[in-house]
This record gives sequence, structure tokens and C-alpha cells, in this order.
Amino acid sequence: MLKKVQELLFEVENFSPKNTEELEVFRIKFLGKKGVMNDLFAVFKTVPNEQKKDFGQALNQLKQAAQSKLDECKDAFENNEEYGESIDLSRPVSLDNLGSRHPISLARNEIVDIFKRIGFVVSEGLEMEDDWHNFTALNLPEEHPARDMQDTFFIEKDPDVLLRTHTSSVQVRYMEKNSPPIRTISPGRVYRNEAISARAHCIFHQVEGLYIDKDVSFADLKQTLLYFAKEMFGEQTKIRLRPSYFPFTEPSAEVDVYWGLESESDYKITKGTGWLEIMGCGMVDPAVLKNCGINPKEYSGYAFGMGVERIAMLQYGVSDLRLFFENDVRFLSQFKSTI
Ligand code: DAH
Repeated sequence: MLKKVQELLFEVENFSPKNTEELEVFRIKFLGKKGVMNDLFAVFKTVPNEQKKDFGQALNQLKQAAQSKLDECKDAFENNEEYGESIDLSRPVSLDNLGSRHPISLARNEIVDIFKRIGFVVSEGLEMEDDWHNFTALNLPEEHPARDMQDTFFIEKDPDVLLRTHTSSVQVRYMEKNSPPIRTISPGRVYRNEAISARAHCIFHQVEGLYIDKDVSFADLKQTLLYFAKEMFGEQTKIRLRPSYFPFTEPSAEVDVYWGLESESDYKITKGTGWLEIMGCGMVDPAVLKNCGINPKEYSGYAFGMGVERIAMLQYGVSDLRLFFENDVRFLSQFKSTI
């Protein structure tokens, strides 16, 4: 009898089912009501007393082995380990872990689309620039005090390499390569050596616009910017232009959008005015046109440069610009439903 139990133990240990049906057959054979174990326990009652100890131990060992084989195989089937055929291909896919576009990309794409609709084409420059394209050609010769307006990260002195401080450098590159009429929009990343706060960062994004043709006027600029603000923020949007100074435009202005003064954070972010500056603009200075090979007697044009972070803050109601750079998924996942 003991030999028979040992054979059964060998069978249990080497059992390897291909599917749940085979496992069920195994269960019934060994552990079912009319199974092998029950038969053996019935035999156990009839064995002579002096054999009971050995036989009983062997039976228990067999029962435990059958039970653990059953549990182990069940587990494996449920977790799909190496048993590919139980994958249910008809189960709906879970979309829980879908990624989302970054809010800065969303805002940039929207800005670019708005200008594309009125005939602007996209152009791009370089993030590592030279002095000529970032400063000198834009009417900012060496030692010009206005260079201090943009604290610069310099990489090399000779030849001069720096991280561009604004996308206005793309204007220069575009005018050097193309002749008027010019209508271009240039999105990109820019760098400034600035202290990081809720309103400023040392890396940020701008979109530059440039329009050069015959008889372009400041009225054209104003109307284009109003069109942009309404498309971006809604028909009711209010903007204002404040006289300002940029070396590359004359006259120059800064454009504000009305943000409101409803909450404490509105006060903080607009410094209590209700207005938030979103861009600089102006009529391209004749000296800049000349530097880029365009005759200022024949052509005039306007330019503008806007901060994408500022626009995204307005658009999505974000009051701290640093959130855009931390990449905290709890923040980013809130933009999931936007394309
Ligand atoms: N480059 C300026 C800045 O980063 C923004 C700007 C102002 C761009 C006036 C322009 C412009 O094209 O005309 O602060």
C-alpha cells in the first residue's frame, strides 16, 4: 500500500496542467468526494495497528502535496503567469494611464494656430545663438545699456555663444533669408539668468511675430493683437497697450490683458492692477530692417513677442508659473481631456 501512495505522490509532484480544465480533473481525482484521498483514508482504517503510523504520515503528505499543487496552479492561472491562453482579448482597454500634453505645449499650439489662420507661417531659430542675432542686429550694439534688460547666460566668449534671451533672434534669421512680404510666427524656448518666482523663471517660452510689407502701420498691429486676444481668451476680452521701450521697435508698446481682481491671488499676480502683461510689440526699427538687408524706405512692419507661460496662466487659471516646470503628475494630469 505504501508503494502505491508513493507513486501517487510522484504523480502529484510532476503534474503540470495546460489549462483550468485539466486542473479541475486533477482536483476531482485527488481531493474530490469520491477521490483518491477518500479511498485511501477508507483503506487506512483497515491496516494493522503497527503500520498505521507510517501509512498515516504518507497519506497526510500526499494530501498536502495535492492541495498545494492545486493552490499554486490556480494562482498561476489567475495571474496569467506563463499561461498565455487565458488572456481575454475582448476585455475593454483601461485608459487610466493615458498621458497628456503639457499645458505649455497646448497654449503654444493654440497661439500658433490663431496666427496661422490669418496667414502667418511658422519659423524656428536656434536656442544657442550668437551675439549678432540675439543683440547687435536688433539695434543692441555692445555696451548698449538696454542689454541689461535681459540677463544673459553666456556660454563662450570667442566665438561668442549664448543662450538666446528672446525669440526676437528668429526675426533676424528670417529676414536675412526671406524677402518681404513676410508674415511669420516663431515659437521657442528662451533663457534668462533670473531669480525663480511665481511670476518669473530662468527658462521660459515665447512666441515671436513679424509682419513686413509695404505700408504696414501701427493700426494693423493693434487690430491683429485684438484679433489674437479675442480668439485666445474670448470675444469679451479687453486689452490695453502701454507705451514702452524696446531697442528693436519704434514706437514700442506693452500689451496687457484684463485678468480681474476677484481673488487674493488675482491681486498678487497683477500687483493689484487687474492687468497682466502678455507681450511686447512695436513697429520694427528701420535700423533693424537695414541690418537684415531690407530697405526701410520701401518696407515697414510690426513685431511682437509674447510669453507663453503668461498666456497659459490666464488660459488655465494657474497662479504660480513654477507649476509648469515641476512636472508633478497631479498637476499635469488635469490637462488630460484637452487635445
Ligand atoms: N523680445 C522682447 C522680450 O523678450 C519682446 C518683444 C518686444 C518682442 C517687442 C518683439 C517686440 O518682437 O517688437 O522682452
